[in-house]
Amino acid sequence: MKVLLVGNGAREHAIAERLAEDCELYTVMSKKNPAISQLSKQHWVCDIENPSEITKAVEGIDFDLGFSSPDATLAAGVSDALAKAGISMASPSKDAARIEWDKGFMRKLMDEYKIPGAPKHKLVNSLEEAARIINNYGSVAIKPLGLTGGKGVRVSGDHFTNISETVHYAEELIKKDGLVLIEEKLVGEEFTLQAFCDGTRICFMPPVQDHKRAFTGDKGPNTGGMGAYSSGKLLPFMLESELEAAQNIMRSTIHAMKKNQTPFVGILYGQFILTANGIRLIEFNARFGDPEAMNVLALLKDQLSDIFLSMADGQLDNANFSDESTVVKYLVPEGYPTKPVKDVAVTIDTRSIESCGAKIYYASVYEKGGHILTTNSRSFGILGKSTTLANAEKIAEQGCKFVHGPVWHRSDIGTKKLTDSRVSHMAFLRDKS
Ligand code: AMP
Ligand code: GLY
Repeated sequence: MKVLLVGNGAREHAIAERLAEDCELYTVMSKKNPAISQLSKQHWVCDIENPSEITKAVEGIDFDLGFSSPDATLAAGVSDALAKAGISMASPSKDAARIEWDKGFMRKLMDEYKIPGAPKHKLVNSLEEAARIINNYGSVAIKPLGLTGGKGVRVSGDHFTNISETVHYAEELIKKDGLVLIEEKLVGEEFTLQAFCDGTRICFMPPVQDHKRAFTGDKGPNTGGMGAYSSGKLLPFMLESELEAAQNIMRSTIHAMKKNQTPFVGILYGQFILTANGIRLIEFNARFGDPEAMNVLALLKDQLSDIFLSMADGQLDNANFSDESTVVKYLVPEGYPTKPVKDVAVTIDTRSIESCGAKIYYASVYEKGGHILTTNSRSFGILGKSTTLANAEKIAEQGCKFVHGPVWHRSDIGTKKLTDSRVSHMAFLRDKS
């Protein structure tokens, strides 16, 4: 089977690895990822947000299946262009991916179809209205509507110390975009739930908790994600009924998307927060998470290509996952995220990584003169998998030691100390309510 994959991060390396198990893999990348290119029968480097460049590059090959992975490619209509070129696509159309690239659309869909789990929210186009809502809600999240690489949302307490700073940011966004989304601030534990969708049916993957803050103890600026863990069917701080509530929100959303004439075929990613008052939905993405893809794909017992094919055909049946735990730690360049050192060589002791049971996924690095060099983004995801979370963490931590050079990682991700603190945070919030 010939499969076309668009994208070149660690998330796509994990997808490529699973697809290459039983398919002939072809890849389109914005920068050559040395590991993905090795897995590919053929690869092309071009502007992956330009659908016609992609269709031109891959013309002449009869693909059985296609998957466009990064959010910006979906918003640019890459799935649509490849579908038009005759490829069966397992990733969402531009209209379906709107659930990610237009937060206003997402909240309106939830309102219209009475999908539970939305925080109090308001789409606002005037400064007076923004000031009124901010004063009314008290603590808020101020959100631009479009894609911002996770860096556009600002929250009271974290980014604003007073109302006037908050109103000022809302004003800045209204001036830029004409509209801003204001939500009540939610307090709790965040987690990710991803699912395979075929437009009608949905199959859930195990829940994962990502770590957005740069430094140990969840301090410092937000990043693309410093690492994530999964611990089987549930995360340590959640109850089964709470996971089911999140699943219901996603199931209802897939039904609503179908009724809305924008059926969702692809990976639906729910970013949830468990609060003292139950589950709330923070946002939807129309793709796998990065790093969360590495956690779940390591646990998938079925062939990814079979699941993708069934999604593209509207015949999704089941997806089976092992109950093991996973920990992914991202190695990032020194100085990341504010002043990353780029174009610096790192050496990877692949054999030692393998022999300690870890796996390495290449993110934003490139090859020059036989060396692997850093960029200003995350460099490698190191995965540990085991029957216990403690062991998975140990394996990932050990694996990190075998990449030599100016890179660092958060050593607390997946540790008992940190996961225990999540459990006690939730216990505290539940007690208080
Ligand atoms: P988003 O881009 O919507 O995922 O938001 C980025 C981050 O901002 C989330 O992962 C949360 O940590 C935070 N955030 C977003 N919305 C809210 C909210 N309503 N209350 C509290 N924090 C939020
Ligand atoms: N890990 C966060 C994301 O992929 O959006």
